[in-house]
Amino acid sequence: MFLLVHLGINLFLLPITPDHRETFLLAAEFMSTFPPMKVMEIVLFGGFIIHAIYGIIVQLQNWASRGSQKYKSGSKTNTTVASQTMIYSGIIVLLFLALHLYQFYFVKLGLVDGPMHDGHPDFYTIAVHMFSHDMVFTSIYILVFVVLIFHLLHAFQSAFQTLGWNHPTYTPIVKAIGVIYAIVVPLGFIAIPLYYMINPVS
Ligand code: HEM
Repeated sequence: MFLLVHLGINLFLLPITPDHRETFLLAAEFMSTFPPMKVMEIVLFGGFIIHAIYGIIVQLQNWASRGSQKYKSGSKTNTTVASQTMIYSGIIVLLFLALHLYQFYFVKLGLVDGPMHDGHPDFYTIAVHMFSHDMVFTSIYILVFVVLIFHLLHAFQSAFQTLGWNHPTYTPIVKAIGVIYAIVVPLGFIAIPLYYMINPVS
């Protein structure tokens, strides 16, 4: 849900309407100042941290229980590349979040200097300027969004599995929605840096 809302706002970084810049800044300001959003932000950060710590602990337990014994033949269970690499894609997304929060969120907190607009951080200028001129960070963003496809491919249906929401009719539908979500949402994020890489703004 967070990614959908975040993408919905971020798409206004693209010239999809004549006043897209104002719409983006207004939405970003609303998200930063509307009190229920502040509560959601705490729940979101708490959730992210618990999810990351829990994921790392489960992976360490798996490795420990395997010991130094490697399987002679590859796994015969019906697993995908996405499910086998969750710890790696997860750590990459986590490292991205540290960079991303430093570049954007820390400006809001006043910990990092950045351009301002009407007394609020000008996230439009920060994002558009970075994607137009900084090839290194823009490439990192695009590569991480590709990794995000893999993480979400397994994550979506796995969340339903964890909650025990299995059903002969609905599970295939959930899996299909999960695949569409895992591909469409990161591609939406990729469109933004890609657009400004191709059409840089001075
Ligand atoms: C083109 C890609 C992206 C751009 C331009 C972008 C831009 C931004 C901006 C401007 C903010 C500050 C918003 C505010 O605090 O009011 C922000 C915050 C944040 N972003 Fe992104 N973002 C992108 C992709 C992502 C992705 C893929 C994730 C997660 C995997 C993510 C996670 C976060 C988090 C956790 C916050 C802090 C919470 C919040 O303030 O909403 N972002 N991002």
